[in-house]
Amino acid sequence: MSDQPTVPLAFEAISPQESRARLEKFATRLRKRRTVRDFSPDPVARDIIEQAILAAGSAPSGANQQPWTFVAISDPAIKSRIRQAAEAEEKAFYEGRAGEEWLDALAPLGTDWEKPFLETAPWLIAIFMQRWGQGPDGRRVKHYYALESVGIAIGFLIAALHEAGLATLTHTPSPMGFLNEICGRPDNEKAIVLLVVGKPADGCRVPAITKKSLDEIARFI
Ligand SMILES: Cc1cc2nc3c(=O)[nH]c(=O)nc-3n(C[C@H](O)[C@H](O)[C@H](O)COP(=O)(O)O)c2cc1C
Repeated sequence: MSDQPTVPLAFEAISPQESRARLEKFATRLRKRRTVRDFSPDPVARDIIEQAILAAGSAPSGANQQPWTFVAISDPAIKSRIRQAAEAEEKAFYEGRAGEEWLDALAPLGTDWEKPFLETAPWLIAIFMQRWGQGPDGRRVKHYYALESVGIAIGFLIAALHEAGLATLTHTPSPMGFLNEICGRPDNEKAIVLLVVGKPADGCRVPAITKKSLDEIARFI
């Protein structure tokens, strides 16, 4: 055993029945999450966003380097700049860069280059991956499995916001370099996702899509 300091694990032993009951509840709730593209302008309190970001920040990460920065944006002027920049990229994407195959894959979702939700929704959270860090002496510190770590943290964030009764849209206007400038993030950071957060608009509808069955996604060996 190493001589690094340790603390007792906060572990709660539960019965298999309790596991099943909890999972049933949790999975049922998770299955109700849907990506929303029609948001209400209703405000959402900042402390709710803070708690959700803290939940995301509890995610596991390579060597516990926590290589993420969450930029939460509610300022209408900044949201408007983001919308303009994102729509410029998305227009180029939908009108050529995407190519037929990608557009075919997107067809069931009915999306296009216009992104009014970037201004309507009360919050945008830009999640940046720190490709490398900085040691106390200013030297570059390599980050291990940064992309995997950030992906997991984003999953925690989406689940936490869903649990808080909020809707999200995982948005990835491509490329997202404009977010560094607008959010004032340094060159070692790369935007991975722009999460749109708020309540769904009244009467919001979502694409009629399905999820794969257990047989299709899992193998037990
Ligand atoms: C990495 C990633 C990027 C995505 N990018 C976009 C996007 O740019 N625009 C969009 O409308 N939806 C985007 N989505 C949402 C997916 O289209 C959506 O998750 C998928 O259709 C399944 O629907 P559901 O989230 O309602 O289950 C993205 C999702 C993921 C995980």
